[in-house]
Amino acid sequence: MTETNPQVAVDEHFDRRSDYWRDVYGGDSAESLAYRERMETALAWVDQLNLPAGASALDVGCGAGLMTVELAARGMRVSACDSSPEMVRQAQQTAEARGLAATVQFVRADAGELPFRSASTGLVVALGLIPWLPEPQRAVNEMARVVEPGGWLILTADNALRLNVLTDPSENQLLAPLRPVYRALERWRRHGAHATARYYRHRPSQVRQMLRAAGFQPKLEATVGFGPFTFMGRHLLSDKRSVALTRRLEALAERHPRLRRHGWHFLVSAQRVGERSG
Ligand SMILES: C[S@@+](CC[C@H](N)C(=O)[O-])C[C@H]1O[C@@H](n2cnc3c(N)ncnc32)[C@H](O)[C@@H]1O
Repeated sequence: MTETNPQVAVDEHFDRRSDYWRDVYGGDSAESLAYRERMETALAWVDQLNLPAGASALDVGCGAGLMTVELAARGMRVSACDSSPEMVRQAQQTAEARGLAATVQFVRADAGELPFRSASTGLVVALGLIPWLPEPQRAVNEMARVVEPGGWLILTADNALRLNVLTDPSENQLLAPLRPVYRALERWRRHGAHATARYYRHRPSQVRQMLRAAGFQPKLEATVGFGPFTFMGRHLLSDKRSVALTRRLEALAERHPRLRRHGWHFLVSAQRVGERSG
């Protein structure tokens, strides 16, 4: 196979899965639960910022636009971008369905090269984007460029400390001897399929470091969800059981807060260092 730009595989992946990203928020799987909670946490943080009416916001890697329209519904002037043309189309449809299409500017763009002026927005959100970027620092630097000094970034990463990293041989160094079996299974499963998009997990400390290097000061942090409950990269449990296990782990984490470090998605809210001019 010839060496191609990794973004091509990522865009193909999301072009094929745009319906999934439109529908998953309304589902009842453990994924649906985690994505809903991820968005709700991010929106609660947005609300706490008490941004002035008409404040501008940018949703990077907007997917099917569920977060985009929530921001627009709060009276913000929203721009949204995604590198997958199908995702941009889905996001436009989502905004049309909510009667908000006229208030959102959609653009197909790469997070590493944002077509927006420097210091032009008070808030950038990027949910679920970082795991798909081979050079996440480039994107975070771009977000720092477009957000005004004193402005905010809310982003998420897939937690490299999440629970299945301890139990799944495809994730855990200590279980590495089982990996050849896993790879053989994967080759068999993907025979004839499209090139697969690469995907990255980050430790919270790596995310903080990225943010600081770009000129952000991390302020709030959380993890949401547990799981995915996989073995050899495959889902072990039915949706119902995954949700029940997630609920039990959530209850356990109430009593043992250290367990939260092993949540699925890591969220952080960070402020751009520097004073607002004017
Ligand atoms: C996991 S989805 C999350 C979508 C949405 N933010 C959400 O939370 O529902 C990741 C999104 O990032 C987009 N994406 C991946 N690489 C990108 C890049 N380099 N620039 C902009 N968007 C990108 C994908 O097309 C996809 O829509």
